[in-house]
Amino acid sequence: MHRSLFGVLALFSLGSASHPAVRPTRAGCVDLRLPIRASATNFDLDVTPARRTERITGTFLMQFVFCEPTVRNSSRADTLLVLSPGSTYNTMYWDMPFQPETYSFVRRASASGFATLNVARLGDGKSEHPADPEIVQLPLQSALLVELVRLARAGTLVPGKRFRTVVGIGHSLSSGMFNDVMLTAPDVLDGVVLSGYAHVSNGQPLAVIPGFFPARTILPARFGGLADGYLTSDNITTRSGFYGPAGTFDPAVLQFDEGHKDLVTVAELASFGIDEVPAPDFKGPVLAVNGNFDRSFCPAPLCANLLNEPAFYPKAKSVETSAYATIYFGCPSTDYNYCAS
Ligand SMILES: *[C@@H]1O[C@H](CO)[C@@H](O)[C@H](O)[C@H]1NC(C)=O
Ligand SMILES: *[C@@H]1O[C@H](CO)[C@@H](O)[C@H](O)[C@H]1NC(C)=O
Repeated sequence: MHRSLFGVLALFSLGSASHPAVRPTRAGCVDLRLPIRASATNFDLDVTPARRTERITGTFLMQFVFCEPTVRNSSRADTLLVLSPGSTYNTMYWDMPFQPETYSFVRRASASGFATLNVARLGDGKSEHPADPEIVQLPLQSALLVELVRLARAGTLVPGKRFRTVVGIGHSLSSGMFNDVMLTAPDVLDGVVLSGYAHVSNGQPLAVIPGFFPARTILPARFGGLADGYLTSDNITTRSGFYGPAGTFDPAVLQFDEGHKDLVTVAELASFGIDEVPAPDFKGPVLAVNGNFDRSFCPAPLCANLLNEPAFYPKAKSVETSAYATIYFGCPSTDYNYCAS
């Protein structure tokens, strides 16, 4: 017998008085926070080059929004899309409340018959923010994703829901996390879509992003209690660097984004830079999707560097790549001709 989702909601709001209550968002969706236990081998970031030697095991409260499909399609009914956002974005990245009919991937997926699990990274959104931000690294994040997927397949993450096919969909930093899942647990995902990401980047160190500062100094009202290792972007000028040149995006989106920016840890960025390694044993299909104006991951004109991606997945069933001029993630305006060429 399965408890209903709303029975579970009641259970958690009674049982976790010290945490923000779980709440239904809109029809067909629930916003949950559950303790997830995971073990990983993090990087020792104090040595050069950093080495993957720091064993960590812990239980962390993870936030995720589960949405049922709004349209039934029997061939997609047992498929779950697991979504995770990039640095300084939270669950709003894949389910934007601003003009959602245009910008919410989750709504589009629901209307196409797919269930979605929209996960906030550890240290981000309403997931737990560990006191020590050094542990919030890509290997631990990827181990938590593996556990979430295992629980979703077993029917214990969202009671009454079992999924046979699970596809990971990442954005930027989270695409690096999914790449780590494909490396460390190659059988966990059936397929992946990696956006805002490529193994060959512009070569600039990701650990130091200009305009990123301790979030407690940028937004003390929201982030005042956090250690300095939790960062966010300082202002809208810095934020606009994630977009293409003026005229290629709606400035109201940038305003919304600036008003809802979230966190990333120094250790996440540092471990993201290190971990761009092949996933030699992943056997599912891979789709790599970038915006032409992606400053970090499209160093080649028209993002031609994506054509190198198949080499990183030698056993994948297929590797497809797409670069879209309509995804605008960063390109200095002085480089417009380069970006547009
Ligand atoms: C249902 O799913 C199948 C397989 O993914 C797809 O080809 C088909 O177009 C879908 N039907 C509708 C009505 O969306
Ligand atoms: C944003 O911060 C940068 C320094 O990181 C500064 O040069 C710029 O003038 C600031 N812009 C605004 C709009 O405050």
